[in-house]
Amino acid sequence: MNAVEIEQAISDLALQPFDAAEFPFAFLAAFGNKETTLKRLRAGNNNASDVPGGVLQRNNIHIAVCSPGTTGAGLQALRASPATAKGKAKFILATDGQTLEAEDLSAGETIACDYPSFPDHFGFFLPLAGISTVKEIKDNPIDVRATGRLNKLYVELLRENPSWATAERRGDMNHFMARLIFCFFAEDTDIFNGEALFTRTVEQMSDRDAGNTHQVLSEIFRAMNVKIADRAAANLPRWADAFPYVNGGLFSGSAEVPRFTRMARTYLLHAGTLNWKQINPDIFGSMIQAVADEDERGELGMHYTSVPNILKVLNPLFLDDLRAQLEAAGDNKIKLLNLRKRIARIRVFDPACGSGNFLVIAYKQMREIEAEINRRRGESHLGSEIPLTNFRGIELRDFPAEIARLALIIAEFQCDVLYRGQKDALAEFLPLTAENWIVCGNALRLDWLSICPTTGTGVKVTADDLFGTPLNQTEIDFENEGGETYILGNPPYLGARWQEDAQKDDIQGLFAHRCKNWKSLDYVSGWFIKASDYMGHGSALAAFVTTNSACQGIQVPTLWSMLFSAGCEIFFAHTSFKWQNLASKNAGVTVAIVGFGRSVRGTRRLMSVAEDGSLVVKLVDNINGYLTAGANIEVEKASSPMCQQAEMTFGNTPIDGGHLLLDARELEALGLDADQASRFTRRIYGSSEFIRGVPRHCLWISDEDLAEATSIPAVRKRVELVRESRQKGGATAKEIAVRSHQFQRMNEGRFQTIVVPGVSSENRPFLPVGLIERGAVPSNKCFALYDAPLWNMALIASRLHWVWIGTVCVRMRTDFSYSNTLGWNTFPVPLLTEQNKADLARCAENILLAREAHFPATIADLYDPDTMPENLRQAHEHNDEVLERIYIGRRFKNDTERLEKLFDLYTKLVAKASSAKPAKAASAKKAARKAAA
Ligand SMILES: C[S@@+](CC[C@H](N)C(=O)[O-])C[C@H]1O[C@@H](n2cnc3c(N)ncnc32)[C@H](O)[C@@H]1O
Repeated sequence: MNAVEIEQAISDLALQPFDAAEFPFAFLAAFGNKETTLKRLRAGNNNASDVPGGVLQRNNIHIAVCSPGTTGAGLQALRASPATAKGKAKFILATDGQTLEAEDLSAGETIACDYPSFPDHFGFFLPLAGISTVKEIKDNPIDVRATGRLNKLYVELLRENPSWATAERRGDMNHFMARLIFCFFAEDTDIFNGEALFTRTVEQMSDRDAGNTHQVLSEIFRAMNVKIADRAAANLPRWADAFPYVNGGLFSGSAEVPRFTRMARTYLLHAGTLNWKQINPDIFGSMIQAVADEDERGELGMHYTSVPNILKVLNPLFLDDLRAQLEAAGDNKIKLLNLRKRIARIRVFDPACGSGNFLVIAYKQMREIEAEINRRRGESHLGSEIPLTNFRGIELRDFPAEIARLALIIAEFQCDVLYRGQKDALAEFLPLTAENWIVCGNALRLDWLSICPTTGTGVKVTADDLFGTPLNQTEIDFENEGGETYILGNPPYLGARWQEDAQKDDIQGLFAHRCKNWKSLDYVSGWFIKASDYMGHGSALAAFVTTNSACQGIQVPTLWSMLFSAGCEIFFAHTSFKWQNLASKNAGVTVAIVGFGRSVRGTRRLMSVAEDGSLVVKLVDNINGYLTAGANIEVEKASSPMCQQAEMTFGNTPIDGGHLLLDARELEALGLDADQASRFTRRIYGSSEFIRGVPRHCLWISDEDLAEATSIPAVRKRVELVRESRQKGGATAKEIAVRSHQFQRMNEGRFQTIVVPGVSSENRPFLPVGLIERGAVPSNKCFALYDAPLWNMALIASRLHWVWIGTVCVRMRTDFSYSNTLGWNTFPVPLLTEQNKADLARCAENILLAREAHFPATIADLYDPDTMPENLRQAHEHNDEVLERIYIGRRFKNDTERLEKLFDLYTKLVAKASSAKPAKAASAKKAARKAAA
């Protein structure tokens, strides 16, 4: 169940008459527990409660229904109950149907409220449904509730008015929803006169069967588009005349409203009963977007980018600097005035703004600083000088774009109320201005300069329809000559494999003339290059949230070398962290933030999360495209190891049309005796065979054994089939068709073979390296080190290597794609002494032994991050400890520090190699001259 569904379920429960016996089960059902689970609890089988009237669901909640007036004592009894501890309850809850008290035992937080209002605290209980919630929602669930109510209305209206669901009318539908949201907000904030004017008018003037609801709404909307002076001629009904003139494009254009059903009317009235005053335009906007998007609706109420995450972009980009200036200004009136002027001319531009959350937060933060300036200058009465139109956005989808404008308007009003008081806020709020500053369109196709011109010289065009998003009416005079521009946001990331054709076209349009590798670029690269181009026309700084992949593997030599040669520099970066919202599918997105610009001055800030979770901020001279401190280096393929490590090659490539490879059944079908099986076949390991233990075999026939092997009909048949398939194949296949009993190459270790799967999940904390048994061979889906000393395995199993591979190699979706030339040969290793090698070999042995203790668990079982056995984890810890001490004499603090060291070593290795090259060439020339003489 998603957050919205849970909210609705517990709201429904609270409305029903209290049933003491049924309450615990109804409560659990509201959080998504299945009937079978509840049946078992009801029957007492799974109910381990030791409290009268109690129901205990293990690892979840202990509920007690108490006699009237004893809720507090009931909660106390639950807290003291041995069953609560034994059953590992996370929550305890007691209620007598009048009041309700609950405690989150891990956080130590409690709530106490009247029973009917417990749904107001539903955010508190969300962890019961496995949803780790955020403070803003816990404290103020209005945004989820509003989303839920409007979603019901939206779905019902589309059901009744299918034509409004068509592509042509979707815009009208979304516009209608934006109008409704505005009305709900306006009636709760005194923007409309009288209490609940909108909801009350609809309730009173529309029939219960909803036959005329659309007409009533239409008249109200029409009224809000008629200036007061023109009202007499407008022939408005008296009840509609009570509504103010709003304009701003929101109510211009057609006042047509979809037809309502009785149900839809009820939903609308329900939505009106919420207190919309408390709406958070940033949170609500992100959530409500899903209503208009069928794919996202299942995750309703879940998409929400937390304010602290947004601040990770805004603060280092420019807010920290504004705050520092505020601090430095103290009470100096002139300095404060200058800062205020500066702030008023700052433009914030989000070219993938969604419902405007980054813009809203930026606006609110800037208003906070401005308010403090005004306070210190004794001018708290002054209106804000920060124009809303300085907060510009581009958004592809029209509903979020509508919501973004609305969110900004609401944010402005809320800030005015907060800093200037309700009276002043109201006095200036209406009518809305009609400028269009959020553009609905494709940011990778639009000219950013026309949407956010770099100086105040743009043509002033006042759009006649703020909400109509006419692209040709986007040039608004900014009055901000010399002002700063900050480009920011979290554009869609989309790796190359996930892009739709149109998106690939966007990337081609932007990059095909600049680089060869454009096909491998992430979609987000488009925003980086557009920002860089924009910066060529005037000063601006940018910061985007992006998946790590934009700063890894092939993207670095492709995208970042382009940006650096355009003069861009990274002035701050926040390396990998989890970008959480409530959405289940998004739970694990790991992102980075990159701030960049041209002519950046001063030291750079590199932020990362330490292993203990704390934030580490380092001031460094340069940040490279891999987001590490150091020179702008690009890791290039090396044909052999740059340090002492052993040679690593591909495993054996079959090119066999599938006929050399055998599963267990096919092996058996060959009908070989034990001796033949051991001479003519081998166990073979590719990625999934090694990681998941899938058994696979292959024909492995030496030339000497060929005659004997092919005397077995089933073997001969297979060899023939291989030949046929090779003869139909490409040049390489044809070339080896003459020896179709064999793989392209026949490599195997004499003593031992270390294998590394070519592709493995990034969720595993270590790369799945290991030994395969003697007599087994690796396939080309693995890399192999034949008869290499075991300390090599210790290197590959280390966190250092995991970090290096994750950074410099290409990714396949979220998987690591290992490369010997790019990842292993380039892996910088300090000079290892014999003692170091012996220590590392022992570490590798310990890892193997630790795995052995769990036989027959597979690598996939053993390296599941949630269930990795402790002894194995410790063996890896020890391996890291030993290896990291070789690098720096202690453990690294975090991956950022690891990468920094690796890049430092790599830079030195490259420098050494290139200084050695001319010397080598010179001595070769000298030798050649000598020989010639
Ligand atoms: C990751 S969301 C970020 C939105 C918002 N900042 C948030 O946190 O919810 C990316 C937004 O970019 C929009 N988008 C995708 N492709 C776009 C394009 N080519 N031009 C403009 N916007 C685009 C999507 O519709 C989506 O709203």
